[in-house]
Amino acid sequence: MNKPIGIFDSGIGGLTVVKAVFKTLPEEQIVYFGDTARVPYGNKSTLTIKKFSYQIAQFLVSHDVKLIVVACNTVSATSLDWLTSHYLLPIIGVIEPAVEDAIKATRNNKIGVIGTRATIESNAYQNSILHKKPNAKVYSYPCPLLVPLAEEGWLDSPATKIILNDYLAPLKKKGIDTLILGCTHYPLLENTIREVMGKNVTLVNSADSVAKKVKAILHKNKTASDAKIKSPNKFYFSDIPRQFSTLTKNFLGVKIKYIKTTL
Ligand code: DGL
Repeated sequence: MNKPIGIFDSGIGGLTVVKAVFKTLPEEQIVYFGDTARVPYGNKSTLTIKKFSYQIAQFLVSHDVKLIVVACNTVSATSLDWLTSHYLLPIIGVIEPAVEDAIKATRNNKIGVIGTRATIESNAYQNSILHKKPNAKVYSYPCPLLVPLAEEGWLDSPATKIILNDYLAPLKKKGIDTLILGCTHYPLLENTIREVMGKNVTLVNSADSVAKKVKAILHKNKTASDAKIKSPNKFYFSDIPRQFSTLTKNFLGVKIKYIKTTL
């Protein structure tokens, strides 16, 4: 099917999901929306997050997308079912795919989750894991300082290691063998998180998990791209903040042309 995939996030973090989708589905056209004027969502109320995500979904639907990826853990955790109930097209969040991968990975059934305050307080990961695996033990912690560190590009600086050691110490103590990186920004810190957690802990990157899920759904619904020539990807943002080219390149790995738009 010759229609784009819509992907959105509260800002630039969802570009880690775009990167994974590019790798898994290079033939698909992407329309991305990043709400850089209103980021972060991670400390906002659920009512506000629902309102923002509905506006963005409407924007993507106006671009005739065939499927929407909610590439934001905070929106997926607080508003996915509500958002899905307003549309007929498939809307995929990042939580279920990551949970499925974590359940496959764990051997001792002790799973850790890190994310923004809104994500952790919603208990969405915990509920989803326990629904699928009632005997699992889930330990969840908010790590609000990691978003600004990733955006500053402080990926393996001594300060970042100190903060990660502090944040992750309780999870190490609990003896988890699997850790879900429940925020779009955390894949950038993956190497440093691995260093702190040690090689016996499997890190589940929700960006890779959701890309695999999108592929499976397109295949199942027979809506994968059949275009001979791929249409150009489009990247919309509600603001173009300072350092934007560098930031987007850090998250996506390549330079992009971006378009500023209002909803
Ligand atoms: N994209 C958000 C998430 O994955 C992180 C940034 C924010 O707080 O909006 O939770």
